[in-house]
Amino acid sequence: MNAIFDSHAHYDDAAFDEDRDRLLSLMPSLGVGHILNAGASLRSSQTSVELAKRYPFVYAACGIHPEEASGLPSDYLGQIEALCAYPKVRAIGEIGLDYHYEDMAPKTVQQELFANQLALANRLHLPVIVHDREAHGDVMALLRRYRPRGVVHCFSGSVEMMREVVSLGMYIGLGGAVTFKNARVPVEVAGAVPLDRLLLETDAPYMSPAPFRGKRCDSSLIRYTGEVIARIRGISIDELFRITAANAARLFDINLEEPIPL
Ligand code: NI
Repeated sequence: MNAIFDSHAHYDDAAFDEDRDRLLSLMPSLGVGHILNAGASLRSSQTSVELAKRYPFVYAACGIHPEEASGLPSDYLGQIEALCAYPKVRAIGEIGLDYHYEDMAPKTVQQELFANQLALANRLHLPVIVHDREAHGDVMALLRRYRPRGVVHCFSGSVEMMREVVSLGMYIGLGGAVTFKNARVPVEVAGAVPLDRLLLETDAPYMSPAPFRGKRCDSSLIRYTGEVIARIRGISIDELFRITAANAARLFDINLEEPIPL
């Protein structure tokens, strides 16, 4: 059964240059039925679309990550919009704010880029995939203002923040961080998030779950994250995969039985 929906991966990443096609071709046989590949720059958004054109089970998100906020061409929004014309582009992402590194674009630049892409998503009636690293307050302020559909991926906020994200109508993406030895808040969030708002993700090639932490991640490792969350919730892993695939299909408007033609 190809029940698993990996709602966030980066197969455009150079970490897959050696074996991208071999690995992706294997995914259906490993139980991974659907993958949403998230762009992070204009270039990787383009590659994301190319992967979606090549693999029936790959869908794309196009958008510019806060790490890429500097030096954008003036028509970047038009370029993203043009990529979104392809029917297998199901979201704008990943977009957001990242205050972790000192050498990132200034906060005001990141906020303007995020706001512009939130407005574009609303105009195109597409959901967003939100990246929030050490920027909870400013991310929430913009989500309250724009009220997009979407998911806060690799969710790292508190249970209280999770409740507000859910009350805005959005979804919570959880991945490998839930399995880490020191995980406390992600485990609390995994226990409290309404099951109909939870998405599973890998963020491959990053965020490998335990016991593969630090190694290259791929979508098949989502089982390890699923096992931990299913145990926290007291449900079977098959039930968790079924629910989270249905959630992703609802958010990204994908019919799991009838793939969108390439
Ligand atoms: Ni990502």
